[in-house]
Order: sequence, then C-alpha cells, then structure tokens
Amino acid sequence: MGMIKDLMNQTRKPEGRLGKMMISSMNSGHARVSDWGMSCLGGVEPESILEIGCGGGRNADELLKKYAGATVTAVDYSYLSVEKTIEYNRKNVDRGRCTVLQADVSQLPFPDASFDLATAFETVYFWPGLAHCFSEVARVLRPGGTFLIVNETDGSDPSSLKYEKIIDGMKIYPPEEIRAALMEASFTEVEVIGHGSKPWVAVRSVK
Ligand SMILES: C[S@@+](CC[C@H](N)C(=O)[O-])C[C@H]1O[C@@H](n2cnc3c(N)ncnc32)[C@H](O)[C@@H]1O
Repeated sequence: MGMIKDLMNQTRKPEGRLGKMMISSMNSGHARVSDWGMSCLGGVEPESILEIGCGGGRNADELLKKYAGATVTAVDYSYLSVEKTIEYNRKNVDRGRCTVLQADVSQLPFPDASFDLATAFETVYFWPGLAHCFSEVARVLRPGGTFLIVNETDGSDPSSLKYEKIIDGMKIYPPEEIRAALMEASFTEVEVIGHGSKPWVAVRSVK
C-alpha cells in the first residue's frame, strides 16, 4: 500500500522520481474523460485560453488543435508538470501559441480579464478553497468568458471515494457543491453536464 499511496499522491503535485512516473501516465490515463469534457465546449470560440493544472500537457495540445486561431497559457504549480507540458507542446511553444508557467491557481500571475476561456481537467479536487480559487479564475476571465471544469468522478461511485483516503488533501466534490462555489465566486449560467453512463462530470459557467 505504501508505494501505491506514494505514487497516487503524485497526482496532487508531481515531484521527484515518482512524480515523473505519474506524469508519464496522466496524459493517456485522462485522455478519454478530457476529450469528452472538451466536447462539452460547444458554442465557444476563444482566442486566449488558460489551462489550469496542466499536468502532462495533452489538454493544452488538444485545445490548440480544437481552436486553431487560439493561444493557450498552461499553468501548474508543479515544476515537473510545467517541464512535461513544455516538452509535449514543444512546436507550439516555439511558434508562440503555447506559454507554460509555474503558478498556483489561488494566485494567478495575470492581469484582470486576460482570457476568453479557462479550463480545469481533473484538478479542482486539490485546489485550496474552491470559492477563493474560482474567484481568482473569474478575475482573469473577460466578462462573458467561459470556465470549464471536468472531473472523472462526481462522487456517486463508491470506488472513486477510496482515492480521497489514499491521496492527502484530495476532495471529490458533488456537482452541486461546485455549482454553489461558482455562484459564490459570481459565475453565472452554471451548467452541470453528466456523462450518462460514467460518473464523469463537466461544469460550464460564464463570468
Ligand atoms: C491529477 S493531475 C491532472 C493533470 C491534467 N489536468 C490532466 O487532466 O491530466 C492534477 C494537476 O493539477 C495540478 N494542481 C493541483 N493543485 C494546483 C494548484 N493549486 N495550482 C496549480 N496546479 C495545481 C497538479 O500539480 C497536477 O499536475
């Protein structure tokens, strides 16, 4: 259990040798839920995108493919995630379409109203205080901008709850708790989209 727990804890903030192992598996492990979540972004045509908790960097690349005219700024508070995201997106980094920075969502290093779309895949479980972090996302979004949260579990499947016990500081939020925190952070038009046959959830909201 010790080794598995140590490895699983690297999902929160990849560091060191185990962190490198975990990052290598994140892109493939989250591909299906991420692609489904991105399909919930109909009607949005962003020019500037903030991808928060970018992990291995696949989602930044998928966003760049989906929105050919857009730029993506990817952030993560883990140095290893930043390194991996740069490596995964090398061509777009060199072309100036992708910028990757080490930053904590609770204190984003951007001026107000910098982005049209913010995304958060498989990461809000670890954020320090949802309403505060959502307010910070709202601050850097332009009025009318969209915030998309995608989680592999909405807490309805008992098997996923074991991760809360294994991973320090992880919290699996029921969608209604996410909705309430978004509204507290002054987001509107909050839409909870369930997958149907899996416990996956996407929450879309508008600044
Ligand atoms: C489970 S991984 C998901 C990575 C990627 N989004 C994906 O779907 O594969 C969670 C990521 O969120 C990052 N993260 C967690 N809390 C964060 C915070 N407060 N600020 C920035 N990044 C954070 C972690 O470092 C990690 O890379």
